[in-house]
Amino acid sequence: MPTEVLDIHDLTEDPQNARIHPESNRSAIRASLGRFGPARSIVLDADNVVRAGNGTIEAARLEGFREVLVVDPEPGQLVAVRRSDWSDSQASAYALADNRTAESAQWNDQRVAETLAAISDTDERRATGFSDADVAALLESLAQSAAGPLGSDTSDSSGLPANTGNAAEPAPSLGSIPEPAAPDRHAELVAKWRTESGQVWLILSPKKPDAPHRLVIGDCSDPSVVRLACPDRVQGIVTSPPYAEQRKGQYRGVPADDYVDWWRDIQANMRSVLRPDGSLFVNIKPHCEGGQRHLYCDDLKAAMVRQWDWAYVDEFVWIRTGPPGSWPNRLKNGFEPIHHFSINNQIKFNPLNVATIGEGSLIGVSGDRDYRATGSGFACKPESAKQLGPVLPSNVIYVNVGEHVKGHSATFPVGLPEFFVKAFSDPGDTWLDPFVGSGTTILACERNDRIGVGIEELPTHAAVILQRLEDSGLTPVLA
Ligand SMILES: C[S@@+](CC[C@H](N)C(=O)[O-])C[C@H]1O[C@@H](n2cnc3c(N)ncnc32)[C@H](O)[C@@H]1O
Repeated sequence: MPTEVLDIHDLTEDPQNARIHPESNRSAIRASLGRFGPARSIVLDADNVVRAGNGTIEAARLEGFREVLVVDPEPGQLVAVRRSDWSDSQASAYALADNRTAESAQWNDQRVAETLAAISDTDERRATGFSDADVAALLESLAQSAAGPLGSDTSDSSGLPANTGNAAEPAPSLGSIPEPAAPDRHAELVAKWRTESGQVWLILSPKKPDAPHRLVIGDCSDPSVVRLACPDRVQGIVTSPPYAEQRKGQYRGVPADDYVDWWRDIQANMRSVLRPDGSLFVNIKPHCEGGQRHLYCDDLKAAMVRQWDWAYVDEFVWIRTGPPGSWPNRLKNGFEPIHHFSINNQIKFNPLNVATIGEGSLIGVSGDRDYRATGSGFACKPESAKQLGPVLPSNVIYVNVGEHVKGHSATFPVGLPEFFVKAFSDPGDTWLDPFVGSGTTILACERNDRIGVGIEELPTHAAVILQRLEDSGLTPVLA
């Protein structure tokens, strides 16, 4: 069997690798390599592109490995790595470590779909381990994420559905892969708007030309960027930051294990511009890793209160049905949490702005208060819920799925920021979204006579925002 020794840098990592190696997985591979040395072989194609073992190669480079023994077996010949230097207990420990490291890798759904679509031989496609039903569910999920808000940010990183339960549904054609983040559109829009980092845009509203909205292109963890965006304090902040590394191919991702540290400066910047009676709403949902929901968002909430002295007012649930599929130990996602923080408990609160008229009014029925339920508020006796009047919503929010903004993959519906803008401020007040994405919060402010301020790091996304706002009848002007 011919062999040769190559420099490790002569191997190319697969640019289309559909496997994501989050920080926890990378460190597990490095730890295993450091402790046991190399064992499992990687697989190269004829051009020395790594087709299996990209995580191992990356870790081996970082661990200082220099050379790779490459074998060219005959078709049908198995290749085994014999580690005669191991003791029994080392061999047993390695056997566990080897299986364990595989568990924490994740899938890049878009790449999986593209790769499957490019495999025209049906038998070969089935040999990947993705059944026709898996493929159908994956494409359905991608189509939904391209059309709906926030896409697959909350997908289970433990992988694609093992069996979908939707097998009776017709499988979408493998050719119908949804468009990715519209790079052509980005190029066209950046050429039109000439967006660059550091720019401040004023967005003139025909309703109030003297009170423009604002967009700053920059990093909201930088205090000078936030000051530039908000020379005056804002009444509210509503935002959806990156969900750890769930979309790191499209914009900056933050490893879940580093998230709280990363958030330290961001919360400090937000706090420095929020009015004392203001509110902060953060939409974030953790993904699943290795069959468990990650806890970094719980760490974040705890740090907000215990380290940085925010009040945790409440948790809202936004009903947002996830893509179909099935997972070995849980059901599909059906909601996203939104965490409400404030600087103190004296916040501006206009709940009647989001009330509807109907039966079940709890307003003006103080005689029927049920004091057993008192805390800072009160609940009513059920019989008092009969009268007609304004009915306040609960903390479960139902809003329509958002419009699909071409060029941004994680847009939330305008109705979502709108709900908070209406319930927690007055007309004329200013709201900030430090991760404004496609500009949804600015639009919600325009529609509700508030002033919207957005910060977006990527000039490509900023161009998408400017176009979206212009299409909505606003006039962006470079300040
Ligand atoms: C989840 S998306 C927000 C989507 C937004 N809610 C909407 O409806 O369009 C997060 C956005 O934050 C941007 N971003 C990521 N890191 C940032 C940072 N440090 N400063 C400012 N923007 C950032 C990303 O480019 C992305 O557009």
